[in-house]
Amino acid sequence: MLRYLTAGESHGRFLTGILEGFPAGVKMPSGYLAAQLRRRRLAPGRGARQAKETDDFEIISGLSGSVTTGAPITVLIKNAGRDLPPPSSLPRPGHADLAGMLKYNTLNAVLIRERASARETAARTALGSFALRLHELLGIAINSRVLSLGRLPSITAATAAAELLRARSAGDTLGGVFELSVEGLPAGLGSCAQADRRLGARLGAALLGVNGVKGFEIGGGFALAELGGIEASEYPELSGGLDGGMTNGRGLILRCAVKPVPGLPGGAPSTDLKTFKRKLSVSSTSDTTAVFAAAVVAEHAAALELADALLEKFGGDSLGELKRRLDEWRKETGRVLGRL
Ligand SMILES: Cc1cc2nc3c(=O)[nH]c(=O)nc-3n(C[C@H](O)[C@H](O)[C@H](O)COP(=O)(O)O)c2cc1C
Repeated sequence: MLRYLTAGESHGRFLTGILEGFPAGVKMPSGYLAAQLRRRRLAPGRGARQAKETDDFEIISGLSGSVTTGAPITVLIKNAGRDLPPPSSLPRPGHADLAGMLKYNTLNAVLIRERASARETAARTALGSFALRLHELLGIAINSRVLSLGRLPSITAATAAAELLRARSAGDTLGGVFELSVEGLPAGLGSCAQADRRLGARLGAALLGVNGVKGFEIGGGFALAELGGIEASEYPELSGGLDGGMTNGRGLILRCAVKPVPGLPGGAPSTDLKTFKRKLSVSSTSDTTAVFAAAVVAEHAAALELADALLEKFGGDSLGELKRRLDEWRKETGRVLGRL
């Protein structure tokens, strides 16, 4: 079983991530983890804080040289932005502030923001980098691409950059849709035997766990509802690589809708919980969109979930052991799948 936890606040000394149950013998190439963190940090649409954050990190356990040992892996990421904002009793609409203030019985929204902030996704990305590397070594490729940005139904680098500029100049923010594809997965991951073991449900939880993700679909997803059964049956790829909660040997296709960033530079109307006066809640350092960065985080969150599913099916305390069992299974199932 692979499990992980992250800890740390947005302006604390460090973010911390611990990954437990990860196999021994996985070599992490130099610069691999740093490159993944950079992809998240410098994704299009990110705002002023990212220029300050450098995501300097240290791996303090679980590696011998650059190779995993099977022991829990601990990653520390330094926070550059260490000046805790002054206390505020003004919740930012669309954020965790109001619900968190009620839940944790505080009139200081800053205490809620410190942990609810998507800064935490740096720790998730760092841990997910190990899982992503494991998949690479097993011949499994996880990729993401942004399909749409705001009302632009399709994008190129140039149209996305222009739309981001337009939104930023108008003091607005954007959402979007990203797609995750996974190639090379063996058939039979997950299970049809119990609802919480269905791989689609597990991946849904992982991806809906990415801050700002409000929609999730597998394969044909919502569009499938409009098709007749005869038409749908002609396109088996519409099931997105999952049937009955298990991988079916085809590529996995998942899509997520990300809401527009709620922090608005021009402010959004809110109510101060101390005075109950209406005020504008202004977010000067916000990203213009989170969809590109969320896609990177989602790759890593999915990589962790899929690594857990692989280890559940094949076991293996070292890469060699896992790979031998997976190769054997691929041969065995390939005899059937190759003739369909
Ligand atoms: C990588 C990443 C960066 C984000 N940056 C911002 C931001 O700068 N400002 C903001 O208001 N929301 C940002 N968000 C979205 C919020 O974190 C999210 O909407 C908020 O925590 C409320 O959670 P919910 O939308 O999941 O309900 C970001 C999300 C991600 C994944």
